[in-house]
Amino acid sequence: MMDPPGNNPVAIVTGGSKRLGRQLCTTLAARGYDLVVLYRASQDEAHSLVKEVGKTGCRARTLAVDVGIEQEVAKVFADITTQEGRVDLLVNNVGNYNPQHVTKLSPAVWDATLAANLSGAFYCCYHALDLIPPGGHIISIGMAGLEGIRANVHGTDYYVSKTGLLVLTRALAAAHAKRQIRANMISPGQLDNSIDLPPPDQIGASVPLGRAGTLKDVTQAVEYLLDAPYVTGVNIDVSGGYRL
Ligand SMILES: NC(=O)c1ccc[n+]([C@@H]2O[C@H](COP(=O)([O-])OP(=O)(O)OC[C@H]3O[C@@H](n4cnc5c(N)ncnc54)[C@H](OP(=O)(O)O)[C@@H]3O)[C@@H](O)[C@H]2O)c1
Repeated sequence: MMDPPGNNPVAIVTGGSKRLGRQLCTTLAARGYDLVVLYRASQDEAHSLVKEVGKTGCRARTLAVDVGIEQEVAKVFADITTQEGRVDLLVNNVGNYNPQHVTKLSPAVWDATLAANLSGAFYCCYHALDLIPPGGHIISIGMAGLEGIRANVHGTDYYVSKTGLLVLTRALAAAHAKRQIRANMISPGQLDNSIDLPPPDQIGASVPLGRAGTLKDVTQAVEYLLDAPYVTGVNIDVSGGYRL
């Protein structure tokens, strides 16, 4: 049983227990957000994150959810409605990347990617929006803007999902601006924890700035957006000029 809601703003982070999601959570806690960390399978990491965040004086708790299943998302947001009663920031960080050549891409993989990365983000926005007050914000994590419409034969499902997420972000930004609710996207290119990172001596071929991105590069962009109340509907490439 949690204590009654506090005065801190509340952030919900999907896929928040490890890697980029975890860094986003600790960054938001350092800025005074109470957190609801959504995870699917990484329960131990989620619980250790809650302990870590607790030391900052912010409240944090975890909820398990497969964001690709709408009923599960509805249940999680019903719980958030009861416990926190508001969502000041929703971060759609879930990213399912399972690259296969498009000639071998199975419907099952396609469905799983679209469910997690695109439908999942939509379900979270749909259920969160009733809880987002004026001044609230949705940030979705994408993949370097123009990259999505290249002929990417590996990971086509992933690029389709992330491009769809950009279209969704812009539509939500336009539709909810009158309520002073913003929606933005941040798009890393190749992070230093990427599963298909080229060797350091070859990275310059795809990244003009000559290095992989760090988690801090991404959280700096999040902090910029949090401090920029006049910015909505944008996609910030944090990619070192990935494949310019
Ligand atoms: N890493 C990169 O180089 C890179 C580059 C460009 C963009 N991005 C984007 O940045 C974001 C974070 O990247 P990452 O590499 O840190 O991600 P990741 O580790 O591959 O995935 C983040 C989390 O997503 C959760 N997840 C996956 N499918 C889910 C589902 N159906 N329901 C609920 N949770 C689900 C997983 O949670 P559990 O572990 O709890 O199952 C996982 O921990 C992603 O959106 C990714 O597309 C990353």
